[in-house]
Amino acid sequence: MVGKHDTANRHAMQGQVRSQGVDGDMTPIRVLVVDHDTASGGSVERILKTMGFEVTKAPDGARSLELLAASTVDVLLLDLAMPGMNGLDVLGKVKALDSAVEVVLITAHGDVDSAVAALKAGAYDFLTRPLGSPDALARLVTRAAQHGRLAARARRLEQELEVRERYGDIIGSSPSMRFVFRAVESVAHSRSTVLLHGEPGTGKELVARSIHMSGRRAKGPFVPVNCSAIPKDLIETELFGNVRGASPRASENKIGLFGAAHGGTILLDEVDHLPPGTQVRLNRILQGTEIKRAGSNDPGRMDVRVIAATDVDLKQAMHQKRFREDLFYRLSVITIPLPPLRDRAEDMPLLAYHFLRKYSARSGRKIARISLEAMRVLRSHTWPGNVRELENAIERSVVMARGDVILPGDLPPSVGDTIAPLVPTNLLLDLPFRESKMKAVEQFESAYVHEMLKRSGGNVSEAARQSQMDRSNFRRIIRKHKIRT
Ligand SMILES: Nc1ncnc2c1ncn2[C@@H]1O[C@H](COP(=O)(O)OP(=O)(O)O)[C@@H](O)[C@H]1O
Ligand SMILES: [Mg+2]
Repeated sequence: MVGKHDTANRHAMQGQVRSQGVDGDMTPIRVLVVDHDTASGGSVERILKTMGFEVTKAPDGARSLELLAASTVDVLLLDLAMPGMNGLDVLGKVKALDSAVEVVLITAHGDVDSAVAALKAGAYDFLTRPLGSPDALARLVTRAAQHGRLAARARRLEQELEVRERYGDIIGSSPSMRFVFRAVESVAHSRSTVLLHGEPGTGKELVARSIHMSGRRAKGPFVPVNCSAIPKDLIETELFGNVRGASPRASENKIGLFGAAHGGTILLDEVDHLPPGTQVRLNRILQGTEIKRAGSNDPGRMDVRVIAATDVDLKQAMHQKRFREDLFYRLSVITIPLPPLRDRAEDMPLLAYHFLRKYSARSGRKIARISLEAMRVLRSHTWPGNVRELENAIERSVVMARGDVILPGDLPPSVGDTIAPLVPTNLLLDLPFRESKMKAVEQFESAYVHEMLKRSGGNVSEAARQSQMDRSNFRRIIRKHKIRT
């Protein structure tokens, strides 16, 4: 089969092989030929070398796997019928290695079954003996190599893309999230106070943590405080501590949460809940006029970076005299808005897959995909609870899923189109009328209340008002159906 090429012809062929590199990638195509039969292996090797390919030879499958692990190969030419590990075995192992190499199998003439099996197992193509012209061989090997290099390049791009779609643990590709990434990066190294503004579940705490972790305070403490969770009469002491004897209550030294955050960052979440007196004190601290550390023997100045977070419009709160003007201006110099999830639809699938990976790894289950239908349901939901709600939905789906794909039925009932069809389903028709009606009413109640809550962004009073229902009745239905608000 090896034709005798005159020199001119050979040069033409070499030119052809080289110029067919991938996108200006002119590295010669590297081929590994595995053949136990030295005579035929030798000939394939010789043909390819003559045509400008870089060829290595392996006597058997095991040796070829060693060579593959140790060097970069574009195309593996495998003889199907080899003693010991046959071609299909080697192919299986190569594919399991996830290497970028493309495999071309050489089968006996007429062995269609093996050829089909090889393609199914991931071979790029197959050749039958006797091999055709050297030209055809060269073309096939070149195509296989191009295919492999393009696939490798696509994988690389995908990985790079992934890098650009996240900043640490924060995921997102929408313009608004890219703005958040840039903002986090630029404030991380300063001590400026930052205000994070966004609905519950939009990632305020996550972003605050990233700011802390990206700056030089990363080794210091990060102290998140929910200002709405501390009783108003205790909050000042909780935050700023006290010195023994300073007040009737101060029976001991207490460094307070600011003291605990020394050298690090304090997150004042729901900062709008701070009582007026505490607002004054916080403002003094931010101004730098109050610097001593309560309850500490260390006379050094307090070194705490303050990040504040809120889901209300602080400016409006200021106009309504619920928030001090001076504190508002001091806090809002650098404001990072965290948009609701419904306003950045392109981030939803990214986040869903992020949580899918997280929770399937955690549960030790291999759930690889969200079905198209389930994704359609996720897309149709408005996510009043934002990323937190999505995270919970995916966590639950991972528990519910039976196979390796999330199906619509695995999603929480609260996600998706919630007003149930009013036509009785088979289940209802199997019941006596009274029971059936009761069940239908319950389904309706649950769906109705849920939908109204969705519209009001989770605000119970507002949802009850829009339903023209008594707030306590509305609440009763929420409790009865265990609807999360
Ligand atoms: N952009 C995001 N990428 C990845 N996870 C996010 C993102 N935003 C929020 N989360 C996750 O959603 C949950 C709620 O976020 P959190 O920061 O507590 O929200 P908030 O403080 O605004 O209520 C957390 O588990 C958080 O890790
Ligand atoms: Mg929070």
